[in-house]
This record gives sequence, C-alpha cells and structure tokens, in this order.
Amino acid sequence: MIKKFFIRTYGCQMNQYEAGVVSTIMDKAGYIQVNSENDADIIYLITCSVRNHAEQRALGRLNALKRLKKSKPDLIIGILGCMAQNYKDILGTKYGADLVAGPDEYLKLPDMINAFIQSQSSQICTNLTTENYEGIMPKSNNKVSGFISVMRGCNNFCTYCIVPYVRGRERSKSKTQIIKEAEELIKNGIKDITLVGQNVLVWQENNLSFLDLLKAINDLEGFERLRFITSHPKDLTPKHYEVFASLDKFCPHIHLPLQSGSNRILQLMNRGYSKEQYIKKIEMGRKIIPEISFSTDVMVGFPTETEQDFNETLEVIKQLQYDYAYMFKYSERPSTKAFDIEPKVDVKLSQERLIKLIETQNQITEQKSKDLSAKILEVLIESKNSKQSFARTKTNKVVIIEELVEIGTIYQCKIIKVAGWTPIGTIVNNMANN
Ligand code: 5AD
Ligand code: SF4
Repeated sequence: MIKKFFIRTYGCQMNQYEAGVVSTIMDKAGYIQVNSENDADIIYLITCSVRNHAEQRALGRLNALKRLKKSKPDLIIGILGCMAQNYKDILGTKYGADLVAGPDEYLKLPDMINAFIQSQSSQICTNLTTENYEGIMPKSNNKVSGFISVMRGCNNFCTYCIVPYVRGRERSKSKTQIIKEAEELIKNGIKDITLVGQNVLVWQENNLSFLDLLKAINDLEGFERLRFITSHPKDLTPKHYEVFASLDKFCPHIHLPLQSGSNRILQLMNRGYSKEQYIKKIEMGRKIIPEISFSTDVMVGFPTETEQDFNETLEVIKQLQYDYAYMFKYSERPSTKAFDIEPKVDVKLSQERLIKLIETQNQITEQKSKDLSAKILEVLIESKNSKQSFARTKTNKVVIIEELVEIGTIYQCKIIKVAGWTPIGTIVNNMANN
C-alpha cells in the first residue's frame, strides 16, 4: 500500500525550505504528500528550538498526535529538525515519537520508516554532519516566491542561541547546485527568489564570495526579484551595499538583527559589534541605497539586563526607525553560555519591557506605513482571495490591492489609504505593458 505523509512546519524560513527537502525525499521513496493530518499514515513535525514557546507548541501537537494514534495504531509520528537534535535522548523514550531525525538526517527518513515498521521501536538519527542536501530540489506549492538554502549551520555562538548546537557548523552549498535550483525555480515561474541561511553573508566557494554568488544569480534571466535572509551585522560592509545597489533584481530590504542596544549586553551576548558600529552599518546602507528598508530582531530580558540597558535598546529603536521588528523575551536555552549568566531578569519585568518595546516599534511601523500614502510603488502580486489581491513591494512590505489581478505579475500601484499598518493600493499600470 502506498503510504501518505503530512508535514507541519514550525520556525524559520530554513525549516520551511527543509520541509520541501523532506517532501522531495519522501516523494522519491514513493510516498504521497497529503494536506490533512487525518489522511496521513506518517506525520512529521519539523520543529524549532530557538525559544521555549516554539518547543511547547510542538510538544502540544505531539501529545495530540499520540491521542490520535490510539484510534489509529499504525500512524507513524516523526519529530524532525532542531528539537529532534536538542532532545534526541528523550523524544523517543519519554515523549513517544516513532522517528526522531535531526536537521542533517532527512535522507535517512525512508529507511527509518522501514526500520520502525519492522521493529516497532523508535528510530533516532541525530548525527550532525556537513549535509547540504545537494541534488535535492525541494518541493513547494508557492507559485510566485521560492527559497534556496545557500548555507547551513552557524559558527557565531551568540551566548543565548541554540542554533550552533542543533545545526552544527557553517557550510556553503556549491554554486553549481544553487544556480541549478535557481534555474529550476525560474522554469517553474517563480518571480521572487530568497536565498536563506543562518548567516548568508559568509557563503563562500574557493575564492568566490557571497557577492559573486549574488551577481551570478542576478544575471539569470526570467525572474524579477532577489532577496536574502539572514545577515549578521559583523559581516556587512560598504562593499556589500555597493554591489547590492548595482544589481537590478536586488530587493532593497535587509534583515539585520540588533538584539540589544546596550554595549554591555551585546558583549555578554558575544555579538561581535558595538551599538555604534551597528548604527553606522544602517546609516551606511541608507546613504548608499536611499530607498532601503530594514527589519530587525530584538530581545529583552537577557540575563543581567538593567533598566538602563533596556532604555538604551529603546533609544536605538527610536533612532533607527526600522520598518519592522521581531521582538522577543529572552528564553533560557540549556547548554548555551547565557544559561549560566546571573542574575536572570524577573519574568514579569521582561514582559513589561517587551510590551513597552512593542508599543514603541508599533508606532514606528504605523508611521512608516502612513508615509507610503499617495506613493506609487512597484508590487508583485503574490496571492488573492475572492475580493482582494495581496502584493509585496521590493522593500518587503505587504500591500492589499482592492481588486483582483493576476498572481505573479508586477504592477505599479498607488497607495490610497492605510488600514492600521497595512497600505491599501490601487493598480496604476501593469509593468509588463510598459
Ligand atoms: N531567547 C529569545 N530569543 C532568541 N532568539 C534566539 N535565541 C533566543 C533566545 N534564547 C531570537 C534572536 C534571533 C531570532 C531568530 O530569535 O533575536 O535573531
Ligand atoms: Fe544564533 Fe547568532 Fe547564529 Fe543567529 S548568528 S543563529 S543569533 S548564533
């Protein structure tokens, strides 16, 4: 009997990309992907360990699946990704997962399934290797935007971060494979390509750098937009911005995690830059590419954070006027260095700081949207419902278009109003007809 599988994905773009990798691996082994858990013989949760909250959500789901398994005893439950790596010793035994596969072990999944069916005992594969999944073209349902993972792993060891422990050391995918994936995406009609990696700027192959790679992809014909995520501030130089500015498909948006505005905390986090150096990198970008937008990640409540440290973070947020920010409360990760830094910040205090931070950034985000009023922007239509179309600007802002237009097409649109943070636009003309 042909077995059916279902994938639920938590966490970052890398996990989303790797869901496509798992899908292709299963497809090649003769399994069929389904869109509903109820139709599946095998259910995979691709998990994230960056914060406790993400882990709790996945564990909650795992418990629900175990209840489902009571009425469907042949169901196979697989925990994949960062939690599989992080909790390899207990997910099979204590939590009752049938398959536990770390981020470098997805090629083994078909064999793990067979071994589980034969032995009825948990299969656990969690080697960290230099796996890059070269030669696997990930599946995706998205018809407009596509991801390519260009590097995996992280060497930075920020003291709060679990990633280097669960995803191993940095390694770059070959340029040949990346170009092949890009060509395949373009052949499938993809217009917007995002290069993903824990720290894409360190991509390298022999004497080729990330900028060489970016230029080579930009030169491919048949697509419109080129982005990447994430970059570490320490690796970003004026040369990068100059090359970005010279590429016609480069989308002027950079996600540049700040984490904290206090030099003392940045040092404890092992971030490798000071507040002043970070600010210069943003200012430099705005000078070289005036239309550039920036988003960031910020954390409150890192161990020892004082009111003064927190206020410095607020000041940087006000000064730099990000277009968007992802804001988090520090979450203790056993085995990281920060786990041992004392004193910890009281949970209630962290929560208050987070609320204050979010309020501050929300005002900025709202104002940034209002600033778009009456502007004419180039947008790519990504999806639609029965009444509206949803588009994205090159600067990574979502715009609602109050008419139904063709998905995958680029239009000029005029922003007529702003609802909350969401700019609402009307089509002025179709770029393809120009
Ligand atoms: N607690 C809270 N946030 C974290 N991040 C990473 N590790 C932690 C942690 N232990 C945040 C950082 C990072 C983003 C992906 O998640 O801001 O940039
Ligand atoms: Fe974590 Fe730092 Fe690596 Fe980002 S660069 S994944 S924050 S260790």
